[in-house]
Amino acid sequence: MVERDLAAIARALDDEAVPAWVLDRPAFDHNVQHVAELLARGRPGLTLRLASKSLRVPALIQRVLDFGPPYRGVMCFAAAEAAGLFAAGIDDLLLAYPVSRRSDLETIRGLHDAGCDLKVMVDDAAQVTLLAAALAGTDRPLPVVVDLDASLRVFGLHLGVRRSPVRQPEDAVALFEACADTGGALRPVGVMAYEAQVAGLADNSPHTKSKNVPIRAVRTMSVRAIHSRRQAVRAALEAAGFGVELFNGGGSGSLDTTPFDPAVTEVTAGSAFFCPHLFDHYQHVHFEPAAFIALAVTRASDPGFVTCAGGGYIASGAAGPDRLPEVAWPPGLSLVAAEGAGEVQTPVTGKGVMPGLGDLVLLRHAKAGEVAERFAHMVIVEGGAVVERAPTYRGLGVHLY
Ligand SMILES: Cc1ncc(COP(=O)(O)O)c(C=O)c1O
Repeated sequence: MVERDLAAIARALDDEAVPAWVLDRPAFDHNVQHVAELLARGRPGLTLRLASKSLRVPALIQRVLDFGPPYRGVMCFAAAEAAGLFAAGIDDLLLAYPVSRRSDLETIRGLHDAGCDLKVMVDDAAQVTLLAAALAGTDRPLPVVVDLDASLRVFGLHLGVRRSPVRQPEDAVALFEACADTGGALRPVGVMAYEAQVAGLADNSPHTKSKNVPIRAVRTMSVRAIHSRRQAVRAALEAAGFGVELFNGGGSGSLDTTPFDPAVTEVTAGSAFFCPHLFDHYQHVHFEPAAFIALAVTRASDPGFVTCAGGGYIASGAAGPDRLPEVAWPPGLSLVAAEGAGEVQTPVTGKGVMPGLGDLVLLRHAKAGEVAERFAHMVIVEGGAVVERAPTYRGLGVHLY
């Protein structure tokens, strides 16, 4: 456990322009070490691929990769992002979300021709046709990965995310065959099955107390179902004569289960490293909060209320109170229900001594990487001092879409 002193982090920011996005680097490094240990506990030798969307700071992606095994490769989410990462010297990229526009297809072709180790996701024969046309004439087929639906369908309910229509082993075999049948443009190399209803759903949340027990039941059922689906798909592909070089699964919230699936060759994680507050509420995985948003108090409207400059740091996903940021420091403060995450300013309230004008308030975002789109760099703090300002995608001018 890292000894965390948020007052010292706030003091380190004395001369810093705020609002600022801030990293407690010892806590981040602790999470990197801890995730490596969790993976080794599941299956020594398993690879961990970084989910770039949950970091969006190339220097920090590189820092994790520099740790060495089990870390290898990046799961990215946009073609333009893949180009930005490759330009920053980061290779072994899995573009895990399909593309359909010509500009993205051209970016993929350009990266492939430049020697980038880029694998691209498909879940539909029409995407295979588009990619094959974009790669026509290549002397080195583009490696392609098939996205397998990992949602759970029981009692007429759909639990999980709406992504891939590839559900049965024969669907995966058909798509592998379609990729293999592209005259050397594409080469099917693997499968990804991300169990969002396990990895992305907290099972010990104070926000959804009455739902924790059913969520745990869904989790148990899903883990069993997805592990056997992955194994069935792998067996069917091998029986059809295909090698499965890569089988990706999981996320930060399933580091306690995915590594135990013998079908997977690599697990993905990203949120674990910053540990946004949605990741405080998992029964079996625990990380150290490492990322904060620092705001300065600029006004005080009423006793027990102060207002900070900057705001709107709300998380994506189904809207609800759990998407709001939480006040991490000073202790005892919270957001004001009527104004939530604010817009260009954020009021906070508390019962004790309130911070004064110019004092800092530290928030924690609900999710890991998307707040990077609001800041040009992340301010990195260690040993009570700012040690680095690492550019985000936004700071580097990486336009995602
Ligand atoms: C395909 C895929 N894999 C893995 C993850 C897990 O990412 P994280 O560890 O940041 O939760 C996600 C998150 O949405 C995802 O979409």
